[in-house]
Amino acid sequence: MEQEDKKRLSAEKAYEIIKTGLHKDSVIGIGTGSTTNYFIEILNNKKLDIKGAICSSEASKKNLTDSGIDILELNEVHQIDYYIDGADEFNSRKELIKGGGGALTREKILANSSKKFICIVDDTKYSEVLGSFPLPIEVIEFARSAISREILKMGGRPVLRNNFVTDNGNQIIDVHHLDIKVPYEMEQLINNIPGVVENGIFALRTADIILKATDQSVEEISI
Ligand code: A5P
Repeated sequence: MEQEDKKRLSAEKAYEIIKTGLHKDSVIGIGTGSTTNYFIEILNNKKLDIKGAICSSEASKKNLTDSGIDILELNEVHQIDYYIDGADEFNSRKELIKGGGGALTREKILANSSKKFICIVDDTKYSEVLGSFPLPIEVIEFARSAISREILKMGGRPVLRNNFVTDNGNQIIDVHHLDIKVPYEMEQLINNIPGVVENGIFALRTADIILKATDQSVEEISI
């Protein structure tokens, strides 16, 4: 099966799971990326009757415009019922690397504000030890070189993402070859460097459910 078909299946499964738990006061969070775009496509077709959705990027907001769902800001809501988003890498503990699309900071805020974070992926994203996918770090431009030096000391190879500015007006450094043995420790260590806005390790707040599409089915990892 093509990877794109798997992405679609995983998004469909997420929709099946959330639709029974939703009501007219529900708020959902929507991430960013090609897998999430399949989920948005479903929302555009199904016309869910909920209070609204909060998106992790301007790109996802634009894609959602046919859904009839109100787009809300996080500051106006108390809680998000479900957060649906993809990932660049995941392991069996439901720890993730995210940020290939550059929206990691808002994604982590939404994941952290949600009751249930459902991560939609295909089996090509699996890696028990995270870090084969270069780790994205959102940085304040002023601190970029200083942060890169700290990352070099940690054994990583920082590469500035060229011609890219986040929705928050910052830059992204993609870090190659970082040894992420204990993801939640590395997540905190990097975030403690002054000038780092956020990094793409999702280990302190993991996904609650991973929907992993394979050639045969969509498997649910939830323990
Ligand atoms: C966006 O910033 C990312 O975190 C995406 O969720 C992640 O890169 C997965 O994207 P794809 O679904 O396009 O692989």
